[in-house]
This record gives sequence, structure tokens and C-alpha cells, in this order.
Amino acid sequence: MPLGKALASIQDRVTLSVKSATMLAIMLAIILGGEGHAARRARDGETVGAAGAPAGCYYGSYLRLDQLLSSQQPASDAAGKPAHDEMLFITVHQVYELWFKQILHELTRVEADFAANPVDDRQVVRAIHSLHRVHEILKLLVHQLDVMETMTPLDFLDFRDLLYPASGFQSAQFREIEIRLGLPRDTRIAFDRAPFESKLSDRDRERLIRAGETPSLLQLLDAWLSRTPFVDWGGTSFRQAYRAAVVQMLTADAEKVRGDTQISSNQRAAETLAIESALKNFAAIFEDSADAAWRMSGPAIEAALLITLYRDEPALNQAFRLLQTLMDVDETMTLWRYRHALMVSRMLGVKVGTGGSSGHDYLRATAERHGIFTDLFRLSTYLIPRSALPPLPAAIARGMSFVYETKQPAE
Ligand code: HEM
Repeated sequence: MPLGKALASIQDRVTLSVKSATMLAIMLAIILGGEGHAARRARDGETVGAAGAPAGCYYGSYLRLDQLLSSQQPASDAAGKPAHDEMLFITVHQVYELWFKQILHELTRVEADFAANPVDDRQVVRAIHSLHRVHEILKLLVHQLDVMETMTPLDFLDFRDLLYPASGFQSAQFREIEIRLGLPRDTRIAFDRAPFESKLSDRDRERLIRAGETPSLLQLLDAWLSRTPFVDWGGTSFRQAYRAAVVQMLTADAEKVRGDTQISSNQRAAETLAIESALKNFAAIFEDSADAAWRMSGPAIEAALLITLYRDEPALNQAFRLLQTLMDVDETMTLWRYRHALMVSRMLGVKVGTGGSSGHDYLRATAERHGIFTDLFRLSTYLIPRSALPPLPAAIARGMSFVYETKQPAE
């Protein structure tokens, strides 16, 4: 009789605790001289068909549902003051952490693909696919706050005090996502005048140190973009042709603002200053100046501009889609930050968070300042209408096209 069936029939007849069934499976396997499927499952801590599970892969065991579904332990129950909504609070956070895990899983593959030099074009397609998945997950995470908000502030107060000083601020997976995407350390909003790691356990802190030791996606993207062919146009270059066109456009804009009598002199001055600053930042791309307000290197930004402008060229199309998907991911993370901040304001008013921050104000500031691929968004300042684009030199245009030759059937 197969080991699984033997176990099931034993269990049907004798009421055994899960623990003793587990021991029995291991012992039987040893006696029979081999580690069968049931014993392996038992060794791995799974329930061995407590209700006579059919042989083979079993839904509950495969998904480790015993572990998963016994992991919601309300603190209010333990305190002897059960609060109905704490179950929702725990479940929603746990679901978030599962999705964070999936996001990190996708990032691992994208990073590995982009660590290669050169990056295989097929891997770029795969990376776009993974990042698109990350974006869809993030969209779901924004919506999930609707479920959280079915808990009212009064319901939350039933158990909030039991949570001190724990906070979502301590989510190591969330921090790892930020770090691996490339949020620069020096742009983080100060929290309690201490680095965010000070609120974490040693294990989580070490995990994040390790995450910061490998190149972030932003750095990998920078390296990949910097190697983009087609930026050098032979005798001239994309930079010379395009730079002149943009400077001309922005200078004309500044002239228009200066001559605009419909707006106040203060507004005129502010707008002129903004255009002058845009011109300075544009020049910095090509001069790679140290005080530049860009995160990526000059060559990478120049390539991103070329890709954005000439995206209809077949050779640049995948790269364009990649940049768009990264912006989708960044934008939806920001959306989550705003949405979470709004929820916190509704839930807490101006109370401080359980983790000790100013709550809503701190979270709003992260929404405004914790963007990652911000350079890609700023490129729009320097786009000019298609009609004013410098034409591609013929040799470059040919290099960017795919040609599929079809053999004509013999007559
Ligand atoms: C009743 C619901 C919630 C409230 C009142 C709340 C409140 C807060 C507050 C006040 C902070 C700032 C740090 C602090 O002082 O504690 C914070 C941070 C955070 N929360 Fe929530 N939160 C809620 C739900 C969630 C959920 C469902 C998640 C999903 C994982 C989450 C994830 C985070 C994260 C990742 C941070 C750190 C944000 C950053 O530093 O950029 N929170 N939360």
C-alpha cells in the first residue's frame, strides 16, 4: 500500500493529533527505508492529510495554508479585548507584504538581465513584462486602501494603542523596493532626526545594507542608456542638432513671457526664472556639471531624450516602452504614497503615527520627494514638436529600421 494511503487509513481509524501523525509519517518512512512524499511533507512541517488528503500534490499543503491562515493573531484578542476590525488590519498588511515579495521577485530578474553588458534585446522585452506586472500590482495596492478604509477611525481606536511603537515605517520589504529601484539615500525625508534604519531590527537592517550594496535599477538603467548607439550622428551629433533647437524654443518662451502684459510683474519674473533654470539644467546634461539637478549621467539623459523623441524608429521602440513602464511604476508608487497619506489623515487627523512621525505631514512630504526616476519625468520640459525635430541622418535612420526580406516565389 502506498505510504500516503497507509497513513490516511491509520488516521481514519485512530484519532491522532497532527503532531503525532507527523512523527508517525517520519518513523514509517525510516522503517520502510526511504523518505516518501508524505514523510517529506511532514519533515517540511506540513499537515499530513489530516482529513485523509488524496495522494499527490494537495491544495492546502502546496500553499501552506495551515501556516498562512494561522498567522493572523490579533493583539486585541491576546489582551482580552477583542476588536473586530483588527483582523482586517492584519489581513490587509499581510496581503501587502505578499505583493511586496512578488515585486522584489520581479526586480531580481530585471536586475540580473540588466547587469549584463550588452543587455540582450530579448531580456529587455522580458524586463518590460516584469515591470508591467509590478505596475499592475501597484495599482492593486492603491485600490486595496479602499478596503482598509472600511475601518473607521473609531474602530481603529479600539486597538491602535496596542500597536505602539510598530508601524508600516518598519516594512523592510517596502524599504528594499525603494532601495533597489534607486531612491537616493540623501533625498529621504528625515524621520525623528535619525536614519530610518534606527527603527529596524538588526536582521532587517542587515538585509537593507545588503540590498544597497548592489547597483539599483536606476544605476543599471543609467549604464544601459549610456551605451545607446545612434547618439553619435557621425560628423554632427544628436546633441548639437537638438541642443540648438531646444535653446531656441526655450529662449522664445522666455521672450513671450517677458512681453506678456496680461500677467503680473511678479508672475512674469517667476516664470522667466523657471525658464532660465530649465535652460541651465538643459546645458548641464551636455556638460555633465557636478551641481546638476539630474540623478542620471549626461550621456544617459541624452540617450533617454533621443529615445523619447525618435520613439517611432523600430530600434528605439522597446527602449521607449521600458522608459514608459518605469515611469508608470514610479508614478503609481507616488500615487500610493498620496493615497496612504490621505487615508492616514482621515484615520488620525493630526495625531502622530504609532511609529512616531508627524503622520500625514511626513507621508505627504515623501509623496512629493520620494520619486525615483524623476529625470525621465523632467525630460518633457525639453521636448519640441515633431515638426521641429532635426531629421535623422540617412545612415542613422537606416540603422534604426528593421528590414524583413521576403523571398519572392519563382515564377
Ligand atoms: C489604519 C491604517 C493605517 C494607518 C493609520 C497608517 C499610518 C501610518 C503612519 C502614521 C505612518 C508614518 C510613520 C509613523 O509615524 O508610524 C505610516 C507609514 C507607513 N505605512 Fe501606514 N498606515 C496604515 C495602513 C498601512 C497599510 C495597509 C500599509 C501597507 C503595507 C502601510 C504601509 C506603510 C509604509 C510602507 C509606511 C512607510 C512610508 C514611508 O516612510 O515612506 N500602512 N503609516
